[in-house]
Amino acid sequence: PETGCLSIVVLGASGDLAKKKTFPALFNLFRQGFLQPDEVHIFGYARTKISDDELRNRIRGYLINDKNASPEQVEKLSKFLELIKYVSGSYDSEEGFRLLDKEISEHELSKNSVEGTSRRLFYLALPPSVYPSVCKMIRNFSMNKSDLGGWTRIVVEKPFGKDLESAEQLSTQIGELFEEPQIYRIDHYLGKELVQNLLVLRFANRFFLPLWNRDNIDNVQIVFREDFGTDGRGGYFDEYGIIRDIIQNHLLQVFCLVAMEKPVSLKPEYIRDEKVKVLQSVLPIKDEEVVLGQYEGYRDDPTVPDQSNTPTFATVVLRIHNERWEGVPFVLKAGKALNSRKAEIRVQFKDVPGDIFKCKKQGRNEFVIRLQPSEAMYMKLTVKQPGLEMSTAQSELDLSYGQRYQGVSIPEAYERLILDTIRGDQQHFVRRDELKAAWEIFTPLLHRIDDGKMKPLPYQPGSRGPAEADALLAKAGYVQTHGY
Ligand code: BG6
Repeated sequence: PETGCLSIVVLGASGDLAKKKTFPALFNLFRQGFLQPDEVHIFGYARTKISDDELRNRIRGYLINDKNASPEQVEKLSKFLELIKYVSGSYDSEEGFRLLDKEISEHELSKNSVEGTSRRLFYLALPPSVYPSVCKMIRNFSMNKSDLGGWTRIVVEKPFGKDLESAEQLSTQIGELFEEPQIYRIDHYLGKELVQNLLVLRFANRFFLPLWNRDNIDNVQIVFREDFGTDGRGGYFDEYGIIRDIIQNHLLQVFCLVAMEKPVSLKPEYIRDEKVKVLQSVLPIKDEEVVLGQYEGYRDDPTVPDQSNTPTFATVVLRIHNERWEGVPFVLKAGKALNSRKAEIRVQFKDVPGDIFKCKKQGRNEFVIRLQPSEAMYMKLTVKQPGLEMSTAQSELDLSYGQRYQGVSIPEAYERLILDTIRGDQQHFVRRDELKAAWEIFTPLLHRIDDGKMKPLPYQPGSRGPAEADALLAKAGYVQTHGY
């Protein structure tokens, strides 16, 4: 049953992810009434020996800005903090997880809304190296054992493995402890408003249905840019690099939703089936369709080795071997320390055949979905330049969310995904076979980079990245359109 006691356990409670994302998302859910104080208890678990209050104080500043907060907000915050308890223990100790179980059980006994049922959600805000031992401990000592109903669910974060082999090994280890419907592999891009809109856009609009194919679309770009570097995360980042950090997961998930076929229905399994199919149709990546970069100054970070070969920028062309997309390049591009912060999808259409206006040079039709910042969708199109002359110009049909949905607040990705986990909806989570197919695409390239066979080109922080990436984009067919 989806009612009854709910215990949310945040493992790695004093870490960065928990403070910056998990607890704020839980607080937002609480504020909106999705977590009811008579049902819910939140447990922080980590190695550090601190008290309940110390944990509360550590996260408080991430939840609201005390200076600007209204008295109602402050009151909500203290009610929320009261729900949090802290348990300290190591990630492989029976003792710690038995203690956690005891605390959860006490909480369940004290709240008897639906007697005997127990919903236990374990959020692993932890490095993946401890996933197997933590999952084993949860399985053995802390999961729901009530035969009156309820459930145990595990939320895991990326990086889920480093390549195909390590990811499969991790999947097998966790798969021996929990069933697939209990495992929620988070990719927070799937919680973003405009990513969630992709299926609606594609399959609920007559406009797009006949156009979304190789006959009309020339090329597609999926781009992620950040205007800051690794910002104190150099140690982590250097082990993974931009392909594992952003492209293999976030951009590839977006790619799936742009390129997949229509699912049989909205049942999560049907959607995930289609994502797997399109991933399996991706052809091997060619070295000449890859540009890697590393920003100058990256190696100055003391946690980054002097000789690091890790890319902080990559442009990779994916090609799909199927009836809809053969010949259409999908250019996935991501970079740190670039000139702006932006994530967008850019679908560029082919030239109009028999161009009587001779306006080809002005640019092509483009459909752009800006995921962030300032969510928007716009179509770049050719119109008559207003006035007496019959000349043409580029203009836009613009749906900017800030304008069109004024006053509507767009939920944070984590908020939505945690709520989905509580509700048991796996649509926006990555299934095991999907993860495997994603690693299959990138593993050969990653191994070539790891072996030093491919080297990143240097680029200036604050630039567009290596010029070679623009050349690759042009080679893939992209025509720069002016006027926007
Ligand atoms: C994380 C990456 O998954 O996504 C970070 O590890 C990156 O390197 C972040 O900064 C970007 O997320 P968003 O939601 O700010 O685009």
